[in-house]
Amino acid sequence: MKQPGNCQLKVIVNREQIAEAVARIASEIARDYQKKQPLLICVLKGSFIFMADLVRQLKLDVETDFIQLASYHSAKESSGKVTVTQDLQKSITGRDVLVIEDIVDTGLTISFLLNHLKKKKPASLKLCALTEKPSRRRVPVSIDYLGFTLPNKFIVGYGLDLDEKYRCLPEIYSVEE
Ligand code: PRP
Repeated sequence: MKQPGNCQLKVIVNREQIAEAVARIASEIARDYQKKQPLLICVLKGSFIFMADLVRQLKLDVETDFIQLASYHSAKESSGKVTVTQDLQKSITGRDVLVIEDIVDTGLTISFLLNHLKKKKPASLKLCALTEKPSRRRVPVSIDYLGFTLPNKFIVGYGLDLDEKYRCLPEIYSVEE
């Protein structure tokens, strides 16, 4: 698909692959949280589509909350400085917390968030990420539920943006300059 600004987008994960991964992850989560009522925390904005698809596949009684973090600030590279721009509404103390991320890239955002949440003393804290790019990692991150391991390319679609564009595309694309 040819896009304005000389960006060529190439599908790297299609709709069927996304649907299969969401269903697989949902069944893994349901198996591990039987008889529990986890609090799923969606990391805005990138994870909103993944979260919406995941909760509808989950055969589990869950609660949801949302937090917004920023570190890229319209750039293609993380600034390394993560800030909370919109905080949670619920207390997580004593809760089984599952963080839902669209992508773990350098790992700076999620390690900041996991440290931030740990201080609030949840009963348990796990991470679910639709995608990761291990070759870009700057800090170690352990992912409990993972969709796809991707190559070192800038990706957009299914929630992921390039300067706020392309989030609503239904598939995941690499941006070819
Ligand atoms: C993106 C993405 C992750 C983070 C991953 O968020 O949604 O939260 O970057 O990158 P990292 O592992 O290198 O820290 P971004 O800051 O672009 O905000 P957005 O979700 O609102 O697009």
